[in-house]
Amino acid sequence: MANTPGSSSAGSAVIARLDAVVDDFARRVRFFHEDMTPGRARMFVLQHRQNTRQRNSVLKLRVAANCPDWETRLNIIRACSEEVIADHEHGGGRAHWQVLEQLGTRIGLTLDEMRAARPIDSTALAWCAWEGLMSNRHWLEGIVANTCAERVNVPGYGGGIIGERGWFGMERLRWGKLFGLDDDALEFFELHEEADIAHSNMGWNAVARFAVEQRMEDAVVEACRMNLVVWEHYLNGIAAAGDALGHGRAL
Ligand SMILES: [Fe+2]
Ligand SMILES: [Fe+2]
Repeated sequence: MANTPGSSSAGSAVIARLDAVVDDFARRVRFFHEDMTPGRARMFVLQHRQNTRQRNSVLKLRVAANCPDWETRLNIIRACSEEVIADHEHGGGRAHWQVLEQLGTRIGLTLDEMRAARPIDSTALAWCAWEGLMSNRHWLEGIVANTCAERVNVPGYGGGIIGERGWFGMERLRWGKLFGLDDDALEFFELHEEADIAHSNMGWNAVARFAVEQRMEDAVVEACRMNLVVWEHYLNGIAAAGDALGHGRAL
C-alpha cells in the first residue's frame, strides 16, 4: 500500500487507516473494474470538466479558508490554481480542465458540446453531498475531502493494474487502447500521475502532523470514507449516463 511517512508513529497509524479506506475504494468501485466504453469515457469528460471546476474553484477553497496553518492553506490554494487557472509545473501553463477539453476533442466531443454540458443528476447530488462534507467542517476533515480521490491516482491502492499504475495510470492505458490514442493525447492522465502525488501528499502530510495533536483521528478516517462513498456514486452515475449516451450515437 502507498505510504507517506508520518511525523510520528501515531501519525503513521492514522495514515495507515486512511490508506486502508482508499484501498477499499480502489477495489470496490465498479467504474474502475468494469470495461471502459466510448460512452462512459465521453460522459466522464462531460461531467469531470465541470466537476473539477466546481471542486477547485468553490469547495476546496472553503477548506483553505478554514485552515489555520498558513503553509497548508497556501498549498491548498496553489493546488487549486493548478487545477483551474494554470499548471506551470506539470501542465505547460494550462489548467487541468483545459487539458481535459483537449482529450475530449480526441474522443469524439466538440468544444461546444463540452462547454454546454450540464451536470447530470448524480453529479449535482455529489456536489450537494460534498457541500455538506467540505463547508463548515473542521479543516482536517476538509483537507481529507480535498485530497482523498487524488490519492487513488498514486500507485499502491487496490490490486491489478490500478494498484500498479494508480487510477489515472490505468485510464491512460485503457483509453489509449480504446481510442487508439498516443501519449500526447493522453496527457490529462499522465500529468495527474505526477501532480496528484504532490496534491495528495499535502493532505496526507497535514493529517499526519495535526490529526493526532487535535484528536481528530476517527473524524478524518470517517471523512475519508464518506467522501469516497460520494465519489463512488458520482462515478457510477457517469457509467449509467455514459451507457445511455452510448446507445444513442455512433461510437
Ligand atoms: Fe487535476
Ligand atoms: Fe490534483
